[in-house]
Amino acid sequence: MLKKEILIAPSLLSANFSNLEKDIERVSAAGATVLHLDVMDGHFVPNISFGPTVIKAINTSTNLILDTHLMIENPDNYLEQFRDAGSDILTVHVEACAHLNRTISKIKELGMSAGVSLNPATPLTLIEEILPFVDLVLIMSVNPGFGGQKFIQTSIEKITNLSKMISDKNLPTIIEVDGGIDLNTIKNIKNAGAHYLVAGNAVFGNRNIEQNYKQLNSLIK
Ligand code: DX5
Ligand code: ZN
Repeated sequence: MLKKEILIAPSLLSANFSNLEKDIERVSAAGATVLHLDVMDGHFVPNISFGPTVIKAINTSTNLILDTHLMIENPDNYLEQFRDAGSDILTVHVEACAHLNRTISKIKELGMSAGVSLNPATPLTLIEEILPFVDLVLIMSVNPGFGGQKFIQTSIEKITNLSKMISDKNLPTIIEVDGGIDLNTIKNIKNAGAHYLVAGNAVFGNRNIEQNYKQLNSLIK
């Protein structure tokens, strides 16, 4: 069971890929408990990142909660592989799943927490029916595929509306927000009702990783 708390989830996408272990140790030492892992297939999004083999290697060297964000087509074909790699949270995109209820049930059967993600142009109405079944909703506040993009301001209203939907139904669902989170945008996002705040560029974009993490964290406490 995931804890519903407000935290920064550093996204490894902007880390130093030639020494991931070091960067993971650094965010961990700074206080991070959740690590966001962006899996991209070059089909669902126009970029390719890494897959279960890399996550498996990461899992051998860290105790952080591995929060895997699948930006891939046909995620159903890979759920076991990501579980075996050590993913604790597995999030799929609503746009990539024809039978979302089945996919979410499978993720939970495999022993992981289940998340559903929405692209910026996807309305919240598409997740109304699945909401009671998921542990987490991931709101994309940029078009997925790349780190370092600008936060889409209309996401604030979407987070507020989702937060209301969740409290109206009295659900324990976690709201995660991903894309363009930095020192300027983080406070409004948190105030709109977000719990897990994903930050890639703002944490790993320069080499002051601990300081970057701590500065962001100080704005949500
Ligand atoms: C984008 C990814 C994000 C990305 C966020 O497709 O899902 O997790 O790493 O990066 P920043 O924080 O740099 O916008
Ligand atoms: Zn992500």
